Amino acid sequence: ANPVPLAPLAAIPSEIRCAQDYEVLARRFMAAPTYEYILGGSGRDQTAPANLDAFGQWSVYPRLLRDVSAGNTRVAVGADTFSHPILLAPVAFHKLAHPAGELETARAAHAMQTCMVTSTLASCTLEDIARLAGPQRWFQLYFQHDRVATLELLARAEAAGYRAIVVTLDASIQVASLRALRAGFQMPAECVAANLTSDGPPPAAPAFEPEASRIFQGVMRAAPTWRDLEWLMANSSLPVWVKGVLHPDDALALRAAGVAGIVVSNHGGRSLDGAPASLAVLPAIRDTVGAQYPLLFDGGIRSGTDVFKALALGANAVLVGRLQLYALSVAGALGVAHMIKLLREELEVCMALAGCATPAEIDRGALLRA
Ligand code: FNR
Repeated sequence: ANPVPLAPLAAIPSEIRCAQDYEVLARRFMAAPTYEYILGGSGRDQTAPANLDAFGQWSVYPRLLRDVSAGNTRVAVGADTFSHPILLAPVAFHKLAHPAGELETARAAHAMQTCMVTSTLASCTLEDIARLAGPQRWFQLYFQHDRVATLELLARAEAAGYRAIVVTLDASIQVASLRALRAGFQMPAECVAANLTSDGPPPAAPAFEPEASRIFQGVMRAAPTWRDLEWLMANSSLPVWVKGVLHPDDALALRAAGVAGIVVSNHGGRSLDGAPASLAVLPAIRDTVGAQYPLLFDGGIRSGTDVFKALALGANAVLVGRLQLYALSVAGALGVAHMIKLLREELEVCMALAGCATPAEIDRGALLRA
């Protein structure tokens, strides 16, 4: 129980010794229902824990006598080069974790030369975030219920200097988390989608036919299809990535459609409950799209060793979701920057002992299936 959450600190608490410690400590800095909302997945919470467990199914071979003295963590991701392979996943409403919301996260991203992917559902404006986030910033797009509203977001992201669009396609329906419902979570008043002017899709037309379904006549009527994706790519001057890919056939079709790259993700287990763990599908997707196609991964990254495993199984880089909010709640921008630094150092230790001087040297041979 946490009746009065602590306010974010101006220093890094001494209890934090690894990136995952932020997950534990954040419990004291958030109201209990908020913590449950962030921690949980959708439905009965099958996929969210599976994301974490999947990393335990692989171990890393130590390798001997290799010269890694000239090592670095630089990676090329599509058209960009990053100093390390850890990106900040699009996460809605950072004001859940800190009164200044995404502005704090953006400062941390800039300081750590980390690419921040700003959510459509950010609680600060994308322009304000862009001013602080540093040159490496991407924008995550949700299709809006009409094309004018979608184009408006796209134009604003382009004007604000975002370098890529990541369109998330795995969440056409918002699935409630039973865990959050049981904890009594309600979205706090300060958590509004600062970039959206409309109130979301119009209500479903009343359907009197006995066969009519609320889901299909309602929400899914506005859900995007392949035609919408083609339309988006034709209207974007920025590279378009697709987030939420789990099936190799979808990956292949997206590559064929000219998508700049894909994010293997199950939305942190927050969309289709019962979906496979992200890590479980990663090798097959890499095999299907080929070695050269840009591929990001998220879902369950809690340590630098997890980053290593995702790279070994085919990711060019990873995104972290929940850890951002945990670190933000504990120590604002400082916490997020520190969390990224810890992940990076943990990755470096793993690379060094596994005998990999650069991310390019990390391959499947580095892992043993437990
Ligand atoms: C998310 N995620 C998400 N994804 C997205 O494309 N747009 C969004 O607005 C959000 N919002 C969001 C809110 C919260 C509270 C969470 C926890 C997640 C999913 C996110 O980008 C990412 O896929 C997962 O969080 C990755 O899993 P981990 O790192 O949290 O285990």
